[in-house]
Amino acid sequence: MGDHLELLFGVVLMAIPVFGISSCSFDRGIALYRFCNLTTVPQVPNSTERLLLSFNYIRTVTSTSFPFLEQLQLLELGTQFTPFTIDKEAFRNLPNLRILDLGKSQIHFLHPDAFQGLPHLFELRLFFCGLSDAVVKDGYFRNLESLTRLDLSKNRIRSLHLHPSFRELNSLKSIDFSFNQISVVCEDELKPLQGKTLSFFSLATNNLYSRVSVDWGKCMNPFRNISLETLDVSDNGWTVDITENFSNAISGSQIFSLVLDHHIMGSGFGFHNIKNPDQNTFAGLARSSLVRLDLSHGFIFSLNFRLFETLKELKLLNLAHNKINKIVEGAFYGLDSLQVLNLSYNLLGELYNSNFNGLPKVRYIDLQNNHIGIIQDQTFKLLENLYTLDLRDNALKTIYFIPSIPNIFLGGNKLVTLPNINLTSDFIQLSENRLENLADLYFLLQVPHLQILILNQNRLSSCSQRHTPAQNLSLEQLFLGENMLQLAWETGFCWDIFKGLSHLQVLFLNSNYLNFLPPGVFSDLIALRELYLGSNRLMVLSPGDLPANLKILDVSRNQLLSPDPSLFASLSAVDITNNNFFCECELSAFINWLNQTNVTLLGSPKDIYCMLPEAVSGVSLYSVSMEGCDEEEALQSLKFSLFVFFTVMLMLFLMTVLIVTKFRGFCFLCYKRAQRLVFKDHRQGLEADTYKYDAYLCFSSKDFEWVQNALLKCLDVQYSDQNRFSLCFEERDFVPGENHIINIQDAIWSSRKIVCLVSRHFLQDGWCLEAFSYAQGRCLSDLNSVLIMVVVGSLSQYQLMKHQPIRGFMQNRQYLRWPEDLQDVDWFLNKLSQQILKKEKEKKRDNSVALQTVTTNS
Ligand SMILES: *[C@@H]1O[C@H](CO)[C@@H](O)[C@H](O)[C@H]1NC(C)=O
Ligand SMILES: *[C@@H]1O[C@H](CO)[C@@H](O)[C@H](O)[C@H]1NC(C)=O
Ligand SMILES: *[C@@H]1O[C@H](CO)[C@@H](O)[C@H](O)[C@H]1NC(C)=O
Ligand SMILES: *[C@@H]1O[C@H](CO)[C@@H](O)[C@H](O)[C@H]1NC(C)=O
Ligand SMILES: *[C@@H]1O[C@H](CO)[C@@H](O)[C@H](O)[C@H]1NC(C)=O
Ligand SMILES: *[C@@H]1O[C@H](CO)[C@@H](O)[C@H](O)[C@H]1NC(C)=O
Ligand SMILES: *[C@@H]1O[C@H](CO)[C@@H](O)[C@H](O)[C@H]1NC(C)=O
Ligand SMILES: *[C@@H]1O[C@H](CO)[C@@H](O)[C@H](O)[C@H]1NC(C)=O
Ligand SMILES: *[C@@H]1O[C@H](CO)[C@@H](O)[C@H](O)[C@H]1NC(C)=O
Repeated sequence: MGDHLELLFGVVLMAIPVFGISSCSFDRGIALYRFCNLTTVPQVPNSTERLLLSFNYIRTVTSTSFPFLEQLQLLELGTQFTPFTIDKEAFRNLPNLRILDLGKSQIHFLHPDAFQGLPHLFELRLFFCGLSDAVVKDGYFRNLESLTRLDLSKNRIRSLHLHPSFRELNSLKSIDFSFNQISVVCEDELKPLQGKTLSFFSLATNNLYSRVSVDWGKCMNPFRNISLETLDVSDNGWTVDITENFSNAISGSQIFSLVLDHHIMGSGFGFHNIKNPDQNTFAGLARSSLVRLDLSHGFIFSLNFRLFETLKELKLLNLAHNKINKIVEGAFYGLDSLQVLNLSYNLLGELYNSNFNGLPKVRYIDLQNNHIGIIQDQTFKLLENLYTLDLRDNALKTIYFIPSIPNIFLGGNKLVTLPNINLTSDFIQLSENRLENLADLYFLLQVPHLQILILNQNRLSSCSQRHTPAQNLSLEQLFLGENMLQLAWETGFCWDIFKGLSHLQVLFLNSNYLNFLPPGVFSDLIALRELYLGSNRLMVLSPGDLPANLKILDVSRNQLLSPDPSLFASLSAVDITNNNFFCECELSAFINWLNQTNVTLLGSPKDIYCMLPEAVSGVSLYSVSMEGCDEEEALQSLKFSLFVFFTVMLMLFLMTVLIVTKFRGFCFLCYKRAQRLVFKDHRQGLEADTYKYDAYLCFSSKDFEWVQNALLKCLDVQYSDQNRFSLCFEERDFVPGENHIINIQDAIWSSRKIVCLVSRHFLQDGWCLEAFSYAQGRCLSDLNSVLIMVVVGSLSQYQLMKHQPIRGFMQNRQYLRWPEDLQDVDWFLNKLSQQILKKEKEKKRDNSVALQTVTTNS
């Protein structure tokens, strides 16, 4: 505990910034003399706590160089630009010194007693000082009973024969020997450290054990009877053999965390002559109680059978930045305690059901930045404790294999649409995919317990079906920035996408090309506190647009002309920078508000400037003059009113268009009802004429079900008293047993009109095509447009034109298409009824058309 406090103290001391003090001076305990061309230690008050003297030309410090500074805790003497000599007891006048930094000075001469008289020294920084083996061999650190951290990295130390005095350094916790030239460390050399527990010991980047061959029988265990929290042996060029010999040698020493990154184990991609680690490589670590193992940044290509078998206590395994392409079945057997498995930045292309067998406790699997395109469906299903799965930046096209786990990262894949699976998650990240249809968003919003959903940088733009928004969803944060919601909303649909999100607190809609907000789109967002609408194309914001409890609003980079300040009054912060402010008198209310508001204005004030009129373009809203507005007000306000009037008219027109597109079916019903009320429903009775039927419905028998539902029930009098037509069709009105052709002819000649429902089935049905030709024959002989063609379904012009009779018809006459949108059906039936009722009045025109038909056809 005490040690940790000490460490913390050191860090805090260093972290206190020294800004605000001019260089080469003293202020409140800090003497800041960096870059002051000093050649000797300056005179500083005896109250100095920190003396910063690096980047100078001090050549020598001796026992008399420093005045007696009882308060001094930190002395920075690093980076002297001249060779540096430190004499005997050079710091003895600084009895309470805690941190001594000599880093990056070329220490020419260091007296063996240089550091004597520093009983409170906690940290000694001697990195990059050109020091040799002597510094550890010759007892320089004697009597430093408080010394906790010793940094000797980046020197020229070749061997680690530690002076026996190291044994007395009872506070020592952290020693850094990285970036030296220590090629071998054996048991004898570190003997003075035996019995100690160190939190950090680094031998990184030394070519340790890799430059010379080691006789491990003689060398024995360098860490015998030393307990290490973190041992860093990274970047020493270790092969599988070296690692194996090392782990066997240190068998039994307690190492909590072994850092072995930047190794050269593994065959890499496309090579076979170098070994991948195997069952024996780490076997020697069995009794080391290893909890973390970092094997990142290497060349491991294949994770072999029972590779980590003996590491029963391992909790974190980092294999990131290797070349792993193959996970042999059983590779992870024995990792009974593993919680975090990092396989990111490898070359995995596919995952199989058996890949993660043997990981009963794994909570976090990081697979980001591989090339995974396919995953077998049981791969993750048996990992009961899996809490987070990171599959970012792979090549996934589907996610049907995703089990119900709380956190899922799926950003940067190739998802175009989502399968209908049962997801249960708190957190789903799907940014940078290719999702297009808002159906996927509706689907995700239904996920139970979902709290954060990240969908930015997709292509959400289409809205094809009607969806039912769920109620009372748990979602708290929704990221929809950088999509194309404008395209979806301008169709008039999907305006209910945020319905039911009563717990939503944060909503990102930036960069969606929005030029309007659908009325009431945020009305259910009663908990929303932050709304980001930046980088859109909004010109106006209406009071009803914003959710009631909003606190933070970003509408920067839009096209707001003259916003109403009352909109922002209840906010605590707003970003309105980079809009198209129209600096006429009407903006003065806004400008006044800006000058005195308590609402925090985010962004830089210089980005709040006029866009129009030209004369003041670019002028800050804080300096633009609104004087003279009173006199000119009438004229100006007229101008502005006109401008606003036209803007509003335009908006209204757009809204009407939107509403009519969206509710056209409903509008039509209203129109009909009104018409009936006005004309008191004098539906002219059908004038009796010679025809037995009003119309003969000709269609393929395969379409009967549909025709019955869509047409007969709405038109035929026998289906409902409300209907007005007596229709003829094969299934009911043809005389059984009679020749089919005769039946068809009868039907054609005894009906006023013939309605052909041309569907895919129709085109495949010889009888239907025959009937069509007959009906066309009657057209010619009657010189009348008795034939009405209705195309049903998505038939292309080409498909229709393939058939001779239909081609003839289409060349001369209009035909109808069955509407795609359900709400247009009433309107369509009305139109069809009118066509059926249409009488000889137009006979003349029809004649000429019919005659033309004859001429073109002949
Ligand atoms: C240090 O010396 C250099 C070169 O002589 C000079 O440019 C610089 O201003 C001096 N700095 C101080 C703080 O005196
Ligand atoms: C610091 O120096 C002042 C005089 O310059 C002296 O009065 C004071 O006692 C000294 N304080 C300590 C702690 O030595
Ligand atoms: C570890 O070293 C300490 C100090 O040298 C010694 O007292 C102790 O007996 C040693 N323990 C073992 C197991 O060697
Ligand atoms: C590993 O140890 C064995 C047995 O001591 C030895 O033969 C081999 O050369 C060592 N390998 C390396 C790379 O040191
Ligand atoms: C896995 O390693 C990568 C690369 O070093 C790192 O960015 C990521 O945070 C690690 N994942 C975990 C869960 O620690
Ligand atoms: C989803 O869960 C429901 C109820 O738990 C179950 O009936 C259904 O089969 C599941 N669907 C899929 C695709 O797993
Ligand atoms: C809505 O959710 C809250 C808690 O999440 C719950 O207390 C409340 O009963 C739910 N209301 C409805 C109508 O489901
Ligand atoms: C802002 O308000 C101050 C007083 O509150 C006033 O003196 C100043 O002229 C105002 N500036 C503008 C641009 O309205
Ligand atoms: C801003 O806050 C002060 C003090 O809280 C208050 O007196 C003043 O009326 C507030 N101004 C506005 C515009 O709300």
